[in-house]
Amino acid sequence: MLIQQIENKCKDAFIDAFETLDRSEFSIEVTRSTKANFGHYQCNSAMKLTKLLNMPPRDIASKVVANLEKNNKDGFLEKCEIAGPGFINLTLSNEAISNLCQNIANEPQTVAKTNKVQKITIDLSSPNTAKEMHVGHLRSTIIGDSLARLFEYLGHYVLRLNHIGDWGTSFGMLIAYIKAFAPQIVSDKKATLTQLVNLYKEAKKRFDENEDFKKESQLMVVSLQSHDKETLAIWEMICEISRKAYQEIYDLLDIKLVERGESFYQPYLADTIKDLENKGLIKISDGAKCLFLDGFVNREGEPLPFMLQKSDGAYNYSTTDMASIRHRIVDEKSDRLIYVTDAGQATHFAMLFKAAEVAGYLDPSKVRADHVPFGLVLGPDGKKFKTRSGETERLIDLLDSAIQKANEILIARTKDKESNTLSEQDIKEIAHVLGINAVKYADLVCNRTHDYVFSYDKMLRFEGNTAAFLMYSYVRIHGIKRKIQGEIKLANIDLAHESEVALGLHLCQFAEILASICDDLMPNRLCEYLFELAEKFNAFFRDCRVEGAPEQNQRLALCELTARVLKEGLTILGLNTVTKM
Ligand code: ARG
Repeated sequence: MLIQQIENKCKDAFIDAFETLDRSEFSIEVTRSTKANFGHYQCNSAMKLTKLLNMPPRDIASKVVANLEKNNKDGFLEKCEIAGPGFINLTLSNEAISNLCQNIANEPQTVAKTNKVQKITIDLSSPNTAKEMHVGHLRSTIIGDSLARLFEYLGHYVLRLNHIGDWGTSFGMLIAYIKAFAPQIVSDKKATLTQLVNLYKEAKKRFDENEDFKKESQLMVVSLQSHDKETLAIWEMICEISRKAYQEIYDLLDIKLVERGESFYQPYLADTIKDLENKGLIKISDGAKCLFLDGFVNREGEPLPFMLQKSDGAYNYSTTDMASIRHRIVDEKSDRLIYVTDAGQATHFAMLFKAAEVAGYLDPSKVRADHVPFGLVLGPDGKKFKTRSGETERLIDLLDSAIQKANEILIARTKDKESNTLSEQDIKEIAHVLGINAVKYADLVCNRTHDYVFSYDKMLRFEGNTAAFLMYSYVRIHGIKRKIQGEIKLANIDLAHESEVALGLHLCQFAEILASICDDLMPNRLCEYLFELAEKFNAFFRDCRVEGAPEQNQRLALCELTARVLKEGLTILGLNTVTKM
Protein backbone atom coordinates (compact mmCIF):
# COMPACT_ATOMS: atom_id res chain seq x y z
CA MET A 1 0.00 0.00 0.00
CA LEU A 2 1.29 3.41 -0.98
CA ILE A 3 0.64 5.09 2.36
CA GLN A 4 2.56 2.34 4.15
CA GLN A 5 5.44 2.75 1.79
CA ILE A 6 5.56 6.45 2.69
CA GLU A 7 5.25 5.69 6.38
CA ASN A 8 8.21 3.33 6.15
CA LYS A 9 10.31 5.91 4.34
CA CYS A 10 9.50 8.45 7.04
CA LYS A 11 10.25 5.98 9.77
CA ASP A 12 13.65 5.19 8.25
CA ALA A 13 14.42 8.89 8.06
CA PHE A 14 13.47 9.42 11.71
CA ILE A 15 15.67 6.55 12.82
CA ASP A 16 18.56 7.74 10.69
CA ALA A 17 18.18 11.22 12.16
CA PHE A 18 17.83 10.15 15.79
CA GLU A 19 19.90 7.20 16.85
CA THR A 20 18.10 7.01 20.18
CA LEU A 21 14.83 6.08 18.52
CA ASP A 22 13.88 2.44 18.54
CA ARG A 23 11.78 1.24 15.57
CA SER A 24 9.23 -0.53 17.70
CA GLU A 25 8.81 2.33 20.12
CA PHE A 26 7.11 4.91 17.99
CA SER A 27 4.64 5.00 15.18
CA ILE A 28 4.61 7.36 12.26
CA GLU A 29 1.57 9.32 11.30
CA VAL A 30 1.13 9.92 7.61
CA THR A 31 -2.06 11.21 6.00
CA ARG A 32 -3.17 12.05 2.51
CA SER A 33 -2.82 15.79 1.96
CA THR A 34 -6.02 17.72 1.78
CA LYS A 35 -4.67 20.45 -0.50
CA ALA A 36 -2.51 20.20 -3.59
CA ASN A 37 -0.01 22.78 -2.27
CA PHE A 38 0.68 20.54 0.75
CA GLY A 39 2.10 17.86 -1.55
CA HIS A 40 0.66 14.35 -1.80
CA TYR A 41 1.17 13.12 1.74
CA GLN A 42 1.82 14.75 5.07
CA CYS A 43 3.75 13.49 8.05
CA ASN A 44 2.84 15.00 11.42
CA SER A 45 5.19 13.01 13.59
CA ALA A 46 7.74 15.75 14.21
CA MET A 47 5.18 17.49 16.41
CA LYS A 48 4.18 14.27 18.12
CA LEU A 49 7.78 13.43 18.98
CA THR A 50 8.95 16.79 20.39
CA LYS A 51 8.61 15.62 23.98
CA LEU A 52 10.36 12.34 23.40
CA LEU A 53 13.21 13.95 21.45
CA ASN A 54 13.23 17.12 23.50
CA MET A 55 13.62 19.37 20.49
CA PRO A 56 11.44 21.95 18.70
CA PRO A 57 9.34 20.26 15.98
CA ARG A 58 10.75 22.28 13.09
CA ASP A 59 14.27 21.24 14.06
CA ILE A 60 13.20 17.64 14.15
CA ALA A 61 11.48 18.03 10.79
CA SER A 62 14.54 19.55 9.14
CA LYS A 63 16.76 16.66 10.28
CA VAL A 64 14.20 14.18 9.00
CA VAL A 65 13.85 15.97 5.69
CA ALA A 66 17.63 15.92 5.24
CA ASN A 67 17.55 12.14 5.68
CA LEU A 68 14.54 11.69 3.42
CA GLU A 69 16.52 13.49 0.74
CA LYS A 70 19.65 11.48 1.43
CA ASN A 71 17.69 8.23 1.16
CA ASN A 72 15.93 9.30 -2.00
CA LYS A 73 18.42 7.80 -4.44
CA ASP A 74 15.69 6.15 -6.47
CA GLY A 75 13.98 9.51 -6.99
CA PHE A 76 10.75 8.29 -5.44
CA LEU A 77 10.15 11.67 -3.87
CA GLU A 78 10.03 14.82 -5.92
CA LYS A 79 9.98 17.16 -2.95
CA CYS A 80 9.90 17.17 0.84
CA GLU A 81 9.13 20.45 2.53
CA ILE A 82 8.59 21.67 6.04
CA ALA A 83 5.43 23.63 6.63
CA GLY A 84 3.81 25.38 9.56
CA PRO A 85 4.85 24.20 13.02
CA GLY A 86 6.68 21.15 11.64
CA PHE A 87 4.59 19.31 9.08
CA ILE A 88 6.57 17.42 6.50
CA ASN A 89 4.92 17.65 3.10
CA LEU A 90 5.87 14.94 0.66
CA THR A 91 5.45 15.04 -3.09
CA LEU A 92 5.99 11.89 -5.12
CA SER A 93 7.78 12.09 -8.44
CA ASN A 94 5.89 11.57 -11.69
CA GLU A 95 8.08 8.61 -12.42
CA ALA A 96 7.25 6.96 -9.10
CA ILE A 97 3.52 7.40 -9.65
CA SER A 98 3.79 6.16 -13.23
CA ASN A 99 5.59 3.03 -12.05
CA LEU A 100 3.08 2.41 -9.29
CA CYS A 101 0.24 2.69 -11.78
CA GLN A 102 1.97 0.37 -14.18
CA ASN A 103 2.52 -2.21 -11.44
CA ILE A 104 -1.16 -2.12 -10.57
CA ALA A 105 -2.14 -2.38 -14.21
CA ASN A 106 -0.02 -5.49 -14.61
CA GLU A 107 -1.91 -7.34 -11.87
CA PRO A 108 -5.22 -9.08 -12.53
CA GLN A 109 -6.93 -7.14 -9.73
CA THR A 110 -6.08 -3.63 -8.56
CA VAL A 111 -5.65 -4.62 -4.92
CA ALA A 112 -4.03 -7.97 -4.29
CA LYS A 113 -5.93 -10.64 -2.43
CA THR A 114 -4.91 -11.15 1.17
CA ASN A 115 -2.66 -13.96 2.28
CA LYS A 116 -4.27 -13.91 5.73
CA VAL A 117 -7.71 -15.19 4.82
CA GLN A 118 -10.30 -14.68 7.53
CA LYS A 119 -13.70 -16.23 7.97
CA ILE A 120 -15.97 -13.23 8.30
CA THR A 121 -19.58 -13.70 9.33
CA ILE A 122 -21.86 -10.83 8.44
CA ASP A 123 -25.35 -10.66 9.92
CA LEU A 124 -27.41 -8.53 7.56
CA SER A 125 -30.87 -7.81 6.22
CA SER A 126 -32.69 -9.97 8.80
CA PRO A 127 -36.35 -8.99 8.34
CA ASN A 128 -39.13 -10.42 10.47
CA THR A 129 -41.36 -13.19 9.17
CA ALA A 130 -45.00 -12.28 8.55
CA LYS A 131 -44.02 -8.63 8.30
CA GLU A 132 -43.07 -6.61 5.26
CA MET A 133 -39.44 -5.69 4.87
CA HIS A 134 -39.08 -1.95 5.48
CA VAL A 135 -36.49 0.63 4.49
CA GLY A 136 -34.46 -0.15 7.61
CA HIS A 137 -33.96 -3.67 6.29
CA LEU A 138 -33.04 -2.17 2.95
CA ARG A 139 -30.20 -0.28 4.64
CA SER A 140 -29.02 -3.35 6.50
CA THR A 141 -29.11 -5.36 3.27
CA ILE A 142 -27.27 -2.82 1.13
CA ILE A 143 -24.63 -1.81 3.68
CA GLY A 144 -24.07 -5.41 4.77
CA ASP A 145 -23.76 -6.64 1.22
CA SER A 146 -21.24 -3.98 0.27
CA LEU A 147 -19.07 -4.89 3.26
CA ALA A 148 -19.38 -8.55 2.30
CA ARG A 149 -18.33 -7.74 -1.26
CA LEU A 150 -15.36 -5.75 -0.02
CA PHE A 151 -14.05 -8.62 2.07
CA GLU A 152 -14.66 -11.08 -0.74
CA TYR A 153 -12.81 -8.84 -3.17
CA LEU A 154 -9.85 -8.91 -0.79
CA GLY A 155 -9.98 -12.70 -0.74
CA HIS A 156 -11.64 -13.38 2.60
CA TYR A 157 -14.22 -16.07 3.17
CA VAL A 158 -17.51 -14.37 3.90
CA LEU A 159 -20.67 -15.88 5.31
CA ARG A 160 -23.72 -13.62 4.79
CA LEU A 161 -26.27 -14.68 7.37
CA ASN A 162 -29.88 -13.61 7.17
CA HIS A 163 -30.94 -13.74 10.82
CA ILE A 164 -34.66 -13.66 10.05
CA GLY A 165 -37.00 -13.09 12.99
CA ASP A 166 -38.91 -16.30 12.33
CA TRP A 167 -39.51 -17.54 15.86
CA GLY A 168 -41.16 -16.18 18.95
CA THR A 169 -44.34 -15.83 20.91
CA SER A 170 -46.05 -13.67 18.28
CA PHE A 171 -46.29 -16.69 15.98
CA GLY A 172 -48.53 -18.43 18.50
CA MET A 173 -51.04 -15.65 18.03
CA LEU A 174 -50.88 -15.71 14.24
CA ILE A 175 -51.13 -19.49 14.01
CA ALA A 176 -54.06 -19.59 16.43
CA TYR A 177 -55.81 -16.95 14.35
CA ILE A 178 -55.19 -18.73 11.06
CA LYS A 179 -56.44 -22.00 12.51
CA ALA A 180 -59.64 -20.42 13.78
CA PHE A 181 -60.47 -17.82 11.15
CA ALA A 182 -58.52 -18.42 7.95
CA PRO A 183 -57.91 -22.15 7.60
CA GLN A 184 -58.41 -21.91 3.85
CA ILE A 185 -55.09 -20.13 3.37
CA VAL A 186 -53.36 -23.26 4.63
CA SER A 187 -55.08 -25.48 2.11
CA ASP A 188 -54.99 -23.29 -0.99
CA LYS A 189 -51.36 -22.26 -0.46
CA LYS A 190 -51.74 -19.05 -2.41
CA ALA A 191 -51.61 -16.42 0.30
CA THR A 192 -49.36 -13.41 -0.12
CA LEU A 193 -47.28 -11.64 2.47
CA THR A 194 -49.71 -8.72 2.36
CA GLN A 195 -52.53 -11.08 3.36
CA LEU A 196 -50.41 -12.49 6.16
CA VAL A 197 -49.65 -9.02 7.43
CA ASN A 198 -53.36 -8.24 7.54
CA LEU A 199 -54.12 -11.47 9.35
CA TYR A 200 -51.40 -10.57 11.81
CA LYS A 201 -53.06 -7.23 12.50
CA GLU A 202 -56.43 -8.88 13.05
CA ALA A 203 -54.85 -11.49 15.29
CA LYS A 204 -53.18 -8.83 17.38
CA LYS A 205 -56.46 -6.97 17.80
CA ARG A 206 -58.26 -10.11 18.93
CA PHE A 207 -55.38 -11.00 21.24
CA ASP A 208 -55.71 -7.66 23.00
CA GLU A 209 -59.50 -7.88 23.28
CA ASN A 210 -60.36 -11.51 23.84
CA GLU A 211 -59.13 -13.43 26.88
CA ASP A 212 -59.96 -16.85 25.41
CA PHE A 213 -58.01 -16.10 22.25
CA LYS A 214 -55.11 -14.89 24.33
CA LYS A 215 -55.04 -18.23 26.15
CA GLU A 216 -55.31 -20.13 22.88
CA SER A 217 -52.40 -18.15 21.48
CA GLN A 218 -50.26 -18.95 24.48
CA LEU A 219 -51.09 -22.65 24.15
CA MET A 220 -50.13 -22.39 20.50
CA VAL A 221 -46.69 -21.11 21.48
CA VAL A 222 -46.24 -24.20 23.63
CA SER A 223 -47.48 -26.36 20.78
CA LEU A 224 -45.03 -24.70 18.38
CA GLN A 225 -42.14 -25.07 20.78
CA SER A 226 -42.89 -28.74 21.31
CA HIS A 227 -42.88 -29.11 17.51
CA ASP A 228 -46.47 -30.25 17.15
CA LYS A 229 -46.78 -31.39 13.55
CA GLU A 230 -49.85 -29.41 12.55
CA THR A 231 -48.67 -26.22 14.21
CA LEU A 232 -45.24 -26.55 12.70
CA ALA A 233 -46.75 -27.00 9.25
CA ILE A 234 -48.62 -23.69 9.53
CA TRP A 235 -45.50 -21.99 10.83
CA GLU A 236 -43.56 -23.33 7.85
CA MET A 237 -46.20 -22.03 5.50
CA ILE A 238 -45.93 -18.57 7.08
CA CYS A 239 -42.15 -18.66 6.67
CA GLU A 240 -42.42 -19.80 3.08
CA ILE A 241 -44.79 -16.98 2.11
CA SER A 242 -42.50 -14.43 3.74
CA ARG A 243 -39.42 -16.00 2.21
CA LYS A 244 -40.90 -15.74 -1.26
CA ALA A 245 -41.66 -12.06 -0.82
CA TYR A 246 -38.16 -11.33 0.50
CA GLN A 247 -36.56 -13.31 -2.28
CA GLU A 248 -38.26 -11.11 -4.84
CA ILE A 249 -36.46 -8.12 -3.28
CA TYR A 250 -33.12 -9.89 -3.00
CA ASP A 251 -33.35 -10.89 -6.66
CA LEU A 252 -34.02 -7.32 -7.69
CA LEU A 253 -31.11 -6.11 -5.59
CA ASP A 254 -28.87 -8.95 -6.77
CA ILE A 255 -28.13 -10.10 -3.25
CA LYS A 256 -27.37 -13.61 -2.10
CA LEU A 257 -27.85 -14.61 1.51
CA VAL A 258 -27.77 -17.70 3.62
CA GLU A 259 -30.97 -17.97 5.61
CA ARG A 260 -30.19 -18.67 9.23
CA GLY A 261 -33.28 -17.46 11.07
CA GLU A 262 -33.79 -17.27 14.80
CA SER A 263 -35.51 -20.68 14.67
CA PHE A 264 -32.19 -22.26 13.70
CA TYR A 265 -30.82 -21.52 17.17
CA GLN A 266 -33.78 -23.08 19.04
CA PRO A 267 -31.90 -26.28 19.88
CA TYR A 268 -29.00 -24.27 21.32
CA LEU A 269 -30.86 -21.97 23.68
CA ALA A 270 -31.29 -24.16 26.76
CA ASP A 271 -27.72 -25.35 26.57
CA THR A 272 -26.39 -21.81 26.34
CA ILE A 273 -28.33 -20.79 29.46
CA LYS A 274 -27.04 -23.89 31.21
CA ASP A 275 -23.49 -23.07 30.22
CA LEU A 276 -23.84 -19.55 31.63
CA GLU A 277 -25.35 -20.96 34.82
CA ASN A 278 -22.51 -23.43 35.20
CA LYS A 279 -20.07 -20.57 34.86
CA GLY A 280 -21.92 -18.81 37.67
CA LEU A 281 -22.82 -15.83 35.54
CA ILE A 282 -26.62 -15.91 35.71
CA LYS A 283 -28.37 -13.81 38.34
CA ILE A 284 -32.12 -13.92 38.98
CA SER A 285 -33.82 -10.55 38.78
CA ASP A 286 -37.61 -10.41 39.24
CA GLY A 287 -37.69 -14.09 38.44
CA ALA A 288 -35.84 -13.64 35.14
CA LYS A 289 -32.40 -15.06 34.34
CA CYS A 290 -30.06 -12.17 33.60
CA LEU A 291 -26.45 -11.23 33.18
CA PHE A 292 -25.22 -8.05 34.85
CA LEU A 293 -22.33 -6.60 32.93
CA ASP A 294 -19.81 -4.02 34.07
CA GLY A 295 -20.45 -0.57 32.69
CA PHE A 296 -24.11 -0.98 31.74
CA VAL A 297 -26.57 1.09 33.72
CA ASN A 298 -30.00 2.52 33.02
CA ARG A 299 -30.99 6.19 33.19
CA GLU A 300 -31.31 6.04 36.94
CA GLY A 301 -27.80 4.69 37.19
CA GLU A 302 -28.96 1.22 38.24
CA PRO A 303 -27.38 -1.89 36.75
CA LEU A 304 -29.00 -2.78 33.43
CA PRO A 305 -29.83 -6.49 33.12
CA PHE A 306 -29.11 -8.44 29.94
CA MET A 307 -32.17 -10.63 30.19
CA LEU A 308 -31.88 -14.11 28.77
CA GLN A 309 -34.91 -15.97 30.09
CA LYS A 310 -38.13 -14.48 31.33
CA SER A 311 -39.73 -15.64 34.56
CA ASP A 312 -42.24 -17.74 32.57
CA GLY A 313 -39.36 -19.61 30.99
CA ALA A 314 -39.65 -17.91 27.59
CA TYR A 315 -36.52 -17.08 25.65
CA ASN A 316 -36.09 -13.79 23.81
CA TYR A 317 -34.11 -11.91 21.16
CA SER A 318 -31.05 -11.76 23.42
CA THR A 319 -31.11 -15.48 24.16
CA THR A 320 -31.02 -16.23 20.45
CA ASP A 321 -28.21 -13.75 19.90
CA MET A 322 -26.25 -15.23 22.77
CA ALA A 323 -26.64 -18.73 21.34
CA SER A 324 -25.85 -17.50 17.85
CA ILE A 325 -22.69 -15.61 18.78
CA ARG A 326 -21.48 -18.71 20.56
CA HIS A 327 -22.32 -20.81 17.52
CA ARG A 328 -20.61 -18.41 15.13
CA ILE A 329 -17.40 -18.27 17.11
CA VAL A 330 -17.08 -21.59 18.91
CA ASP A 331 -18.70 -23.94 16.38
CA GLU A 332 -18.13 -22.14 13.12
CA LYS A 333 -14.77 -20.60 14.00
CA SER A 334 -15.42 -17.17 12.57
CA ASP A 335 -12.47 -14.80 12.81
CA ARG A 336 -14.60 -11.73 12.62
CA LEU A 337 -18.26 -10.93 13.27
CA ILE A 338 -20.20 -8.03 11.81
CA TYR A 339 -23.82 -7.17 12.65
CA VAL A 340 -25.57 -4.59 10.52
CA THR A 341 -28.67 -3.13 12.17
CA ASP A 342 -30.26 0.22 12.98
CA ALA A 343 -28.50 2.37 15.56
CA GLY A 344 -31.34 1.75 18.01
CA GLN A 345 -29.85 -1.66 18.77
CA ALA A 346 -26.42 -0.33 19.75
CA THR A 347 -26.83 -1.08 23.44
CA HIS A 348 -28.11 -4.57 22.72
CA PHE A 349 -24.99 -5.39 20.71
CA ALA A 350 -22.62 -3.73 23.14
CA MET A 351 -24.12 -5.90 25.87
CA LEU A 352 -24.09 -8.98 23.67
CA PHE A 353 -20.38 -8.60 22.92
CA LYS A 354 -19.56 -7.99 26.56
CA ALA A 355 -21.69 -10.97 27.62
CA ALA A 356 -20.01 -13.21 25.05
CA GLU A 357 -16.65 -12.05 26.35
CA VAL A 358 -17.53 -12.72 29.98
CA ALA A 359 -18.87 -16.14 28.98
CA GLY A 360 -15.59 -16.96 27.29
CA TYR A 361 -17.05 -17.28 23.79
CA LEU A 362 -15.49 -14.12 22.44
CA ASP A 363 -11.82 -13.37 22.95
CA PRO A 364 -11.42 -9.84 21.56
CA SER A 365 -7.71 -10.38 21.01
CA LYS A 366 -8.55 -13.14 18.54
CA VAL A 367 -11.99 -12.36 17.17
CA ARG A 368 -13.20 -8.92 16.28
CA ALA A 369 -16.91 -8.22 16.70
CA ASP A 370 -18.48 -5.06 15.32
CA HIS A 371 -21.94 -3.67 15.39
CA VAL A 372 -22.42 -1.55 12.26
CA PRO A 373 -25.21 0.85 13.16
CA PHE A 374 -27.09 3.05 10.73
CA GLY A 375 -29.54 5.93 10.90
CA LEU A 376 -33.08 6.33 9.61
CA VAL A 377 -34.42 6.78 6.11
CA LEU A 378 -36.55 9.91 6.11
CA GLY A 379 -39.35 11.06 3.86
CA PRO A 380 -39.40 14.48 2.19
CA ASP A 381 -41.07 15.86 5.33
CA GLY A 382 -38.01 14.94 7.37
CA LYS A 383 -39.97 12.29 9.28
CA LYS A 384 -39.54 8.53 9.18
CA PHE A 385 -40.18 7.34 5.63
CA LYS A 386 -43.85 6.44 5.07
CA THR A 387 -46.26 6.28 2.15
CA ARG A 388 -48.80 9.03 1.66
CA SER A 389 -51.42 7.06 3.54
CA GLY A 390 -49.05 6.82 6.47
CA GLU A 391 -48.27 3.14 5.97
CA THR A 392 -44.75 1.81 5.84
CA GLU A 393 -43.77 1.77 2.19
CA ARG A 394 -43.31 -1.73 0.81
CA LEU A 395 -39.76 -2.11 -0.36
CA ILE A 396 -40.72 -3.84 -3.54
CA ASP A 397 -42.90 -0.87 -4.55
CA LEU A 398 -40.09 1.49 -3.77
CA LEU A 399 -37.63 -0.38 -5.98
CA ASP A 400 -40.16 -0.68 -8.79
CA SER A 401 -40.78 3.07 -8.66
CA ALA A 402 -37.05 3.77 -8.86
CA ILE A 403 -36.77 1.64 -12.00
CA GLN A 404 -39.85 3.27 -13.49
CA LYS A 405 -38.51 6.77 -12.84
CA ALA A 406 -35.09 5.84 -14.20
CA ASN A 407 -36.84 4.72 -17.36
CA GLU A 408 -38.63 8.06 -17.72
CA ILE A 409 -35.42 10.00 -17.19
CA LEU A 410 -33.52 7.94 -19.74
CA ILE A 411 -36.27 8.38 -22.34
CA ALA A 412 -36.25 12.15 -21.79
CA ARG A 413 -32.46 12.27 -22.05
CA THR A 414 -32.26 10.30 -25.28
CA LYS A 415 -34.91 12.57 -26.82
CA ASP A 416 -32.64 15.54 -26.15
CA LYS A 417 -29.62 13.91 -27.70
CA GLU A 418 -28.97 14.37 -31.41
CA SER A 419 -27.43 10.99 -32.02
CA ASN A 420 -29.47 8.47 -30.18
CA THR A 421 -28.18 4.94 -30.36
CA LEU A 422 -30.35 3.41 -27.65
CA SER A 423 -33.25 1.18 -28.53
CA GLU A 424 -36.33 0.88 -26.35
CA GLN A 425 -35.05 -2.46 -25.08
CA ASP A 426 -31.65 -0.91 -24.25
CA ILE A 427 -33.36 1.80 -22.26
CA LYS A 428 -35.41 -0.75 -20.35
CA GLU A 429 -32.33 -2.71 -19.40
CA ILE A 430 -30.30 0.35 -18.46
CA ALA A 431 -33.23 1.71 -16.43
CA HIS A 432 -33.30 -1.45 -14.39
CA VAL A 433 -29.61 -1.15 -13.56
CA LEU A 434 -29.82 2.61 -12.97
CA GLY A 435 -32.92 2.40 -10.76
CA ILE A 436 -31.44 -0.22 -8.44
CA ASN A 437 -27.99 1.39 -8.50
CA ALA A 438 -29.50 4.76 -7.59
CA VAL A 439 -31.31 3.37 -4.55
CA LYS A 440 -28.22 1.51 -3.37
CA TYR A 441 -25.84 4.39 -3.96
CA ALA A 442 -28.04 6.98 -2.26
CA ASP A 443 -27.96 4.78 0.80
CA LEU A 444 -24.23 4.08 0.73
CA VAL A 445 -23.02 7.58 -0.11
CA CYS A 446 -24.01 9.16 3.18
CA ASN A 447 -22.21 8.44 6.40
CA ARG A 448 -24.24 5.45 7.56
CA THR A 449 -24.60 6.70 11.11
CA HIS A 450 -26.63 9.68 9.85
CA ASP A 451 -30.27 9.76 8.77
CA TYR A 452 -30.90 10.58 5.12
CA VAL A 453 -33.83 11.80 3.07
CA PHE A 454 -35.06 9.39 0.44
CA SER A 455 -35.60 11.31 -2.80
CA TYR A 456 -36.00 9.74 -6.23
CA ASP A 457 -35.22 13.05 -7.90
CA LYS A 458 -31.96 13.46 -6.07
CA MET A 459 -30.77 9.90 -6.38
CA LEU A 460 -31.47 9.76 -10.13
CA ARG A 461 -29.56 12.94 -11.02
CA PHE A 462 -26.74 12.77 -13.52
CA GLU A 463 -24.79 15.53 -11.79
CA GLY A 464 -23.12 15.36 -8.41
CA ASN A 465 -22.12 12.34 -6.41
CA THR A 466 -24.73 9.92 -7.74
CA ALA A 467 -24.91 6.45 -9.25
CA ALA A 468 -25.84 7.91 -12.64
CA PHE A 469 -22.78 10.19 -12.67
CA LEU A 470 -20.43 7.28 -11.96
CA MET A 471 -22.13 4.94 -14.40
CA TYR A 472 -21.95 7.64 -17.04
CA SER A 473 -18.24 8.20 -16.39
CA TYR A 474 -17.67 4.51 -16.94
CA VAL A 475 -19.65 4.66 -20.17
CA ARG A 476 -17.55 7.61 -21.35
CA ILE A 477 -14.30 5.73 -20.93
CA HIS A 478 -15.75 2.92 -22.99
CA GLY A 479 -16.79 5.45 -25.58
CA ILE A 480 -13.19 6.64 -25.94
CA LYS A 481 -12.01 3.13 -26.65
CA ARG A 482 -14.82 2.59 -29.12
CA LYS A 483 -13.96 5.79 -30.94
CA ILE A 484 -10.32 4.90 -31.47
CA GLN A 485 -10.56 2.50 -34.36
CA GLY A 486 -8.31 -0.41 -35.05
CA GLU A 487 -6.43 -2.57 -32.65
CA ILE A 488 -5.52 -0.75 -29.46
CA LYS A 489 -2.01 -1.26 -28.22
CA LEU A 490 -1.56 -0.15 -24.66
CA ALA A 491 1.78 1.41 -23.85
CA ASN A 492 3.45 1.80 -20.48
CA ILE A 493 1.91 4.46 -18.33
CA ASP A 494 4.07 7.57 -18.29
CA LEU A 495 2.43 10.48 -16.53
CA ALA A 496 3.49 14.04 -17.31
CA HIS A 497 0.57 16.48 -17.34
CA GLU A 498 -0.61 17.69 -13.95
CA SER A 499 -4.08 16.18 -14.52
CA GLU A 500 -2.59 12.85 -15.51
CA VAL A 501 -0.47 12.79 -12.38
CA ALA A 502 -3.42 13.65 -10.17
CA LEU A 503 -5.46 10.85 -11.70
CA GLY A 504 -2.56 8.40 -11.45
CA LEU A 505 -1.94 9.17 -7.79
CA HIS A 506 -5.63 8.72 -7.03
CA LEU A 507 -5.61 5.32 -8.72
CA CYS A 508 -2.70 4.27 -6.50
CA GLN A 509 -4.73 5.16 -3.43
CA PHE A 510 -7.50 2.62 -4.04
CA ALA A 511 -5.82 0.06 -1.78
CA GLU A 512 -5.54 2.39 1.20
CA ILE A 513 -9.19 3.42 0.90
CA LEU A 514 -10.29 -0.20 0.95
CA ALA A 515 -8.01 -0.90 3.92
CA SER A 516 -9.56 1.94 5.88
CA ILE A 517 -13.07 0.60 5.19
CA CYS A 518 -12.05 -2.85 6.45
CA ASP A 519 -11.36 -1.09 9.70
CA ASP A 520 -14.13 1.48 10.12
CA LEU A 521 -16.74 -0.28 7.95
CA MET A 522 -17.79 2.97 6.28
CA PRO A 523 -18.70 2.31 2.63
CA ASN A 524 -19.27 6.04 2.04
CA ARG A 525 -15.49 6.40 1.87
CA LEU A 526 -15.49 4.32 -1.27
CA CYS A 527 -18.31 6.45 -2.75
CA GLU A 528 -16.27 9.59 -2.12
CA TYR A 529 -13.21 7.96 -3.61
CA LEU A 530 -15.04 6.91 -6.77
CA PHE A 531 -16.63 10.31 -7.18
CA GLU A 532 -13.22 11.94 -6.96
CA LEU A 533 -11.86 9.38 -9.38
CA ALA A 534 -14.55 10.28 -11.91
CA GLU A 535 -13.86 13.97 -11.42
CA LYS A 536 -10.11 13.50 -11.82
CA PHE A 537 -10.73 11.47 -14.92
CA ASN A 538 -12.93 14.22 -16.36
CA ALA A 539 -10.21 16.80 -15.67
CA PHE A 540 -7.64 14.58 -17.36
CA PHE A 541 -9.89 14.08 -20.36
CA ARG A 542 -10.51 17.81 -20.60
CA ASP A 543 -6.81 18.68 -20.36
CA CYS A 544 -5.15 15.85 -22.24
CA ARG A 545 -6.01 14.77 -25.73
CA VAL A 546 -6.15 11.01 -26.11
CA GLU A 547 -7.22 10.23 -29.66
CA GLY A 548 -4.49 10.94 -32.16
CA ALA A 549 -2.10 12.43 -29.60
CA PRO A 550 1.53 11.26 -29.53
CA GLU A 551 0.75 9.90 -26.06
CA GLN A 552 -2.39 8.11 -27.29
CA ASN A 553 -1.42 4.59 -26.31
CA GLN A 554 -0.10 5.32 -22.86
CA ARG A 555 -3.05 7.60 -22.14
CA LEU A 556 -5.34 4.81 -23.24
CA ALA A 557 -3.65 2.60 -20.69
CA LEU A 558 -4.50 5.18 -18.05
CA CYS A 559 -8.13 5.20 -19.26
CA GLU A 560 -8.18 1.44 -19.09
CA LEU A 561 -6.88 1.41 -15.52
CA THR A 562 -9.39 4.07 -14.51
CA ALA A 563 -12.23 2.03 -15.97
CA ARG A 564 -11.05 -1.03 -14.11
CA VAL A 565 -10.81 0.70 -10.75
CA LEU A 566 -14.19 2.31 -11.30
CA LYS A 567 -15.71 -1.05 -12.12
CA GLU A 568 -14.09 -2.80 -9.18
CA GLY A 569 -15.20 -0.07 -6.82
CA LEU A 570 -18.78 -0.04 -8.10
CA THR A 571 -18.90 -3.83 -7.89
CA ILE A 572 -17.79 -3.68 -4.26
CA LEU A 573 -20.65 -1.28 -3.61
CA GLY A 574 -23.00 -3.76 -5.27
CA LEU A 575 -23.60 -1.61 -8.34
CA ASN A 576 -23.68 -2.92 -11.88
CA THR A 577 -22.16 -1.10 -14.83
CA VAL A 578 -23.37 -0.65 -18.40
CA THR A 579 -21.30 0.22 -21.48
CA LYS A 580 -23.78 2.60 -23.07
CA MET A 581 -26.23 5.00 -21.56
N1 ARG B 1 -34.82 -8.93 12.97
C1 ARG B 1 -34.15 -7.83 13.55
C2 ARG B 1 -34.84 -6.51 13.18
O1 ARG B 1 -35.70 -6.49 12.33
C3 ARG B 1 -32.70 -7.73 13.12
C4 ARG B 1 -31.84 -8.88 13.52
C5 ARG B 1 -30.40 -8.52 13.53
N2 ARG B 1 -29.53 -9.61 13.83
C6 ARG B 1 -29.34 -10.12 15.04
N3 ARG B 1 -28.52 -11.13 15.15
N4 ARG B 1 -29.91 -9.63 16.09
O2 ARG B 1 -34.52 -5.50 13.74
